[in-house]
Amino acid sequence: MDSSSFFAHENFMPHGMCYLWQADILWTSVISDVLTAFAYFSITTAVVIFVKKRHDLPYPWFFLLAGSVIFLACGTSHLISAIVIWEPIYGISSIVKAITALTSVATGIVIWFVLPFFLALPSPAMLEKKNQALKDSLDKLNFAQKSLVESEKMASLGGLVAGVAHEINTPIGIGVTASSHLWEETTLINHKHITEDMTNRDLSLYLDEVKESTALISSNLARAAKLITSFKQVAVDQSNKNVRTYKVKRYIEEVLQSLKPKLKHTNIITEVSCDENLAVHGDPGALSQIITNFVINSLIHGFENKTSGNIDINITCKGGMVLFVYTDSGKGIDKEHISKIFDPFFTTKQGKGGTGLGLHIVYNLVVQSLKGSISFNDGFSQGSQFIIEFPLGIHNKDE
Ligand SMILES: Nc1ncnc2c1ncn2[C@@H]1O[C@H](COP(=O)(O)OP(=O)(O)O)[C@@H](O)[C@H]1O
Ligand SMILES: [Mg+2]
Repeated sequence: MDSSSFFAHENFMPHGMCYLWQADILWTSVISDVLTAFAYFSITTAVVIFVKKRHDLPYPWFFLLAGSVIFLACGTSHLISAIVIWEPIYGISSIVKAITALTSVATGIVIWFVLPFFLALPSPAMLEKKNQALKDSLDKLNFAQKSLVESEKMASLGGLVAGVAHEINTPIGIGVTASSHLWEETTLINHKHITEDMTNRDLSLYLDEVKESTALISSNLARAAKLITSFKQVAVDQSNKNVRTYKVKRYIEEVLQSLKPKLKHTNIITEVSCDENLAVHGDPGALSQIITNFVINSLIHGFENKTSGNIDINITCKGGMVLFVYTDSGKGIDKEHISKIFDPFFTTKQGKGGTGLGLHIVYNLVVQSLKGSISFNDGFSQGSQFIIEFPLGIHNKDE
């Protein structure tokens, strides 16, 4: 047969002749071939969909070669096997077989090159294990973050206690000196009295001393008592939740009073503008911690290279909502840092005492305790301005 007759099939006999057209054998073979062909086509479609949908699949061409081409070629050759029973298109059949052979051989070779890669792919069980390990370390990280937040809270409480001790030391010290002086003078006059040496002048001098010392003792004890009252309120409020109705202005002034030791050596003027009668229902400790963090931040960051400036706290109330605006006239916050300041661990004082937790704590206190929202005013250019809005919690008389 010459080559021009490769696709000419007039001279061939249909394959059914081989079966002597025996129906049972012929139809069993035809049905099997057709079913096998459609099964292969279905597999091809599934492989193509799989490769198209799984963009992360390594070596997608391998799947297309191994899956779709082989299955397509195999399916087609089975279909042709069914056709040649009646139509002797053996030329086409042989070409399809050749394509099947070529792609199978190519896949058979390539598979040995890609096999190591597929062997290295993690199994779902391995991935599950890795996921668990990641989850465990995330849990540990969350735990560490929580305990750091707690320790920062304790540190600010500790700082406050140190401040309290320092402030109270002076009036108590003066009281101790005055009372021991009084004791010495009393012992002296007592002795003169017993020995009948006491003159009228001695008595009058002694009475002057008594007047002076008792005045000093009582004024200093009163100062200590006042300090203790204001510190006690702030300290107790910082350590446990204490929900009550409180006058905002007075409370904020008490908090600022407790921060006096930190402001003492600076020319920073604090000012609170708020209606005297404005009362809020909630945990005042949250407000105290928020203000403490703001003031400490203003001192450490805002007024880093300045010795004078202003800290203003402005509070207004409208429609059952309190608008709390904290402003300092410090250096402000760089534009590129603003979006990160409330993130835990964001600090521009890394390695220089900054933990990056202060504003994160403030954020949590505002959201969780005050049930409000906080933002940094990025349009403010003469320093830093934080705006907090939270519900009043009660119906105010002045509203
Ligand atoms: N009043 C402020 N003036 C200037 N920068 C501030 C002020 N408050 C906060 N910042 C900036 O925000 C960052 C985050 O503050 P914070 O969470 O309290 O962390 P830390 O004080 O430990 O650095 C600071 O590192 C600082 O860069
Ligand atoms: Mg801070």
